[in-house]
Formats: sequence, C-alpha cells, structure tokens
Amino acid sequence: MPRPYIATLSDEPLARRNFDVLVLGGGIAGLTAAISAARRWRVGLLTKSTFDDTTTFLAQGGIAAALGESDSPELHFQDTVNAGAGLCDEEAVRVLVNEGPDRVRELMEICPHFDRVDGEIVLGREGAHSVARVLHAGGDATGSEVSSALAEAARMGSRVQLYEDEFVIDLLTVDGRCIGCLSLDLANGQLVLNSAMVTVLATGGAGQVYSRTTNPGVATGDGMAMAYRAGAALRDLEFVQFHPTGLAIAEDATAFLITEALRGEGARLRNHAGERFMVQHDPKAELAARDVVVRAMVGEMRREGSDHVFLDATHLDPRMLEERFPTVSARLREHGLNLALDLIPVAPVCHYFIGGVCTDLWGHTTVPGLYASGEVASTGVHGANRLASNSLLEGLVFSERVVRDLDRYIGRLGEDVQRLRFELPPPPDQRAESSDVAAARARLTTIMSADVGVVRCREELEHAVEELRTLYSELRLSQAGPAEFELLNLLTLGTQIARTALLREETRGVHMRSDFPEPDERWKTHSTVRLPEIGEGGEMREDG
Ligand code: SIN
Repeated sequence: MPRPYIATLSDEPLARRNFDVLVLGGGIAGLTAAISAARRWRVGLLTKSTFDDTTTFLAQGGIAAALGESDSPELHFQDTVNAGAGLCDEEAVRVLVNEGPDRVRELMEICPHFDRVDGEIVLGREGAHSVARVLHAGGDATGSEVSSALAEAARMGSRVQLYEDEFVIDLLTVDGRCIGCLSLDLANGQLVLNSAMVTVLATGGAGQVYSRTTNPGVATGDGMAMAYRAGAALRDLEFVQFHPTGLAIAEDATAFLITEALRGEGARLRNHAGERFMVQHDPKAELAARDVVVRAMVGEMRREGSDHVFLDATHLDPRMLEERFPTVSARLREHGLNLALDLIPVAPVCHYFIGGVCTDLWGHTTVPGLYASGEVASTGVHGANRLASNSLLEGLVFSERVVRDLDRYIGRLGEDVQRLRFELPPPPDQRAESSDVAAARARLTTIMSADVGVVRCREELEHAVEELRTLYSELRLSQAGPAEFELLNLLTLGTQIARTALLREETRGVHMRSDFPEPDERWKTHSTVRLPEIGEGGEMREDG
C-alpha cells in the first residue's frame, strides 16, 4: 500500500513559503484559477516544467462553447450527454454548458487571437457535435495561443508568484486537512515547504503511464497520485480516452496528434484497401463519437493485421489545409508527408484521463482544503467518453467556480497551517543496490500498453495487476529524486487503472472489454478508489 508521503527527510533545512492560495499546475485550469484568485488573495503557482510544456499548450482542436447562432447550451448539453454513454453527471454538464460561453468571452479578452473571418469568430466541427461549436486559434495552435496569453497575463498583469521547474512531491495534511505541499526546486535541489490556506490541484493527466501518448513528458499523474496518498477519493480511473488519430510512425516515442478538426473539415478514414470503413459503423461516419471511431479502427486494424489505418485529406483544398492546419502540416513535412497528397498513417493513442480526483460542482475534493480542476479532476462532465474540445472548457469553467468558492472557505483554515507537523520517512540508503528506474518505468508502460490498452479482457487485466504488484514489490530505490517520484506516481495510477478496469465487467464509452462487449445497466455507476479502502486484498467501492 502506498505511504502517505514519498518525500524523504533532507539534511538541509526546508525553505518555506506561505500563501493564501496555492495553485499546482501551469495549464489552462491552473493559470485561470491563479489569475482569478490573485484579484483578492496572495497566490503562488507551482508548475513542474515551463508554461510551454503542458498538455494545454499542445491542444490543437480548440474550445467548445455554445456561441454560434444555430447553437444553444441545451444542444451542447445533449451532445455531451450523448457522447458520455450514460455516465455524465448531468448537473455538472449543465454548469459546463451554461457557464461556458461567458468564461470563453472572458478568455477572449486575455487571448484575443481566436480565429475570425470578417470580425466573426470561426467555429469548427468535431466528432459527435451536432453543430460547428469549436473556437480555435492559429488554425490548429489553440493550446499554444491560449497558454501563452494566460502565462503572460499571470506574469505581467496579476500578483501571482510563479515558480516554474518546481516538482511537487507530496500534499501535506493535518488531521486530514490539506495545508499545502512539499516541492523540490529543480534548479537548486532545495526542498520547499509551501503552506497555504487552500490548495488547488490542476496538475493535468497521466498519459505517460502508456508507451505512446499525445501527452507531454510531464504528464505522469503526480497530482492524482499525491491526492490519493493524501486520502482523496479518485473516480472512474478505468476511463482512459484514446484519441483515434495519433500519427502512427514508429520512431515517434510521444505520438503526435492529428487533430479531430481535420475530420471536421472532411478528412476520411480508410483501411489498407482504400475503403471508407466508418460509413458502415455510424451514420455520422468519421464524425461519430470518439469511442465509436476507435472501436471501428481497432476492428479494422485487427482484421487487416496492421497497426494503423489512414487519414485521407487529399480531396480537400490544399490552401485550406495549409492555413487551417499549420502545426499538423509542418510536423508531417518533417516526416516527408503532405496532407494534400499523402494518406497519413494513424492509430488510436492514449490522450486523456476522464477519471481523476473526485470533485463536486465547486471543485471540492473529499479532502478539506484541497480543490481540483481540469484533467486531474473528475467532475463527472465527461461521463464514460469525453466530447471533443470539452476539456479546455472544463478547466475554465470549474477553475472560476473554485475561486468563487474560496470566499466562502478560506478564512476558516488559517489555524491549521500554524499547527503543521509532519513526519517524513528517512532518506533511502544511497549505498544500497538500486533498481534501474528507467527500466522499471519501461516495464510499467509496456504492461499498461499490452494489457490495459484500448480493448481489455479479464485475463490480460489480471496479468497486469499481478505484474504491477511484482514490479512494485521488487522495486529498490536508493535515491529520492524526480525520476523515482514519477515512477512511484505512475505505478500507483497504473495499478488503480488496471484494478478498476478489471472490476468493470462491461463495455461503456472508452472502456472496452472484449469479454463483456455490451453495456450493463448494473454498471451504470462510477467507480471510486480511496487509500484506506484499497490495498493488498482490499476492495473497490462503488458510488451510486
Ligand atoms: C483534437 O484536436 O483532436 C483534440 C481535441 C480534444 O481532445 O478535445
């Protein structure tokens, strides 16, 4: 069973910082929360790397919001719930779609670069949206435009104290209440105690638990794992969304995303025989919900004995392709491919964690003093299958709600910070023999990709659980640094994903079981894991 802290004692005295509000994470959820909270509170924001090394920065498609004339929050609600395969929290979806348009308008004031024609915002189409609804910037460079604008606003216009290259190791709790975190300043190796009246977790997802992911290297699930160690409930971890169109070129370790917006503009999926197979699977063909497209692709790939199918945009206007998709076009050119001329090899690749730290509609986790927003959180808006481009919106909407709630909550927590006492485990014996951390991590991602991938079955999941248990029990760490912490975090998450996937005996949304190929009404429920309730021989509890 994981220990409450993976940080260990250091010989050097701890550096100390104190804030009203501590925000962990430098993507859209973290920056939005920090900028907004700093209007009133002393805010510190810690991010593991730099602001251009986040999952938000890599986002291509855009932000979905009901802003078009033919659109409405009600229509956005219906599309989100239909995609969510019976598991959306409808109250949370109402919040998302009703508050989304205002949050996006506010974002436009900070980031004026959303694409327009004749002054009017251009809305793109993506899978399972019934109308064009996705705002984008720089064509397919939405994430970098939004990230850069928010980071600039945090640096210049707000009073947020920003700390880049700061590895957060553990959340600190007193009597079950979160009172800040321990972090490692990667520039000088100094361990820092950050105390705060409230902590907002916005650390993103955990795509690096698989061998191939669209996520950046920093996405190692640190926030989910440390919240778990701090006693927070994690929900729906088995729902890992694989994006249909990762560029399937073998030498790429991190898969490059080919945005769904390309299919929104008319690109088609073809098998090796050149057939447009999606028309047999769904009336919306390539613009069916993401889980439907992935399932059809996997079937096609298995039938043909291949590890990819093709994306075909060769019938589309070459000038439009270049202008609308500059990022994709440039990356393909590096591989000698041209969107307008070539079929592009694509395959499903790990993309997004639907599950995460369980929150209510105000971002409260089950640990007092700890909020969560963005991909690290499970608000329930995505159900069992996230609608494309709802994730940046979720970060905007729920971070703003977190900040609104701070007013109600913040004054009550001051005393706990004064009472802070915590005991760290002793440092590891540096003379002892150590496992090869990189090799252990490679073994972990291989197990996850082989046995807990797009399509799962009992035999493979049991094998994964057993293998991960062995990997954990054989692990000997003689150092306590970022590589070791990331490995432990990934192992915690990988194990919980495999266990919850084993337990859910049905196919629903992105969770596909070959041995249980249909949805089962008995499983129309969330899964929850929590530290005291799961361990060796422990069992998973379900929410109703
Ligand atoms: C994409 O651009 O296809 C990704 C959008 C998303 O995952 O929401």
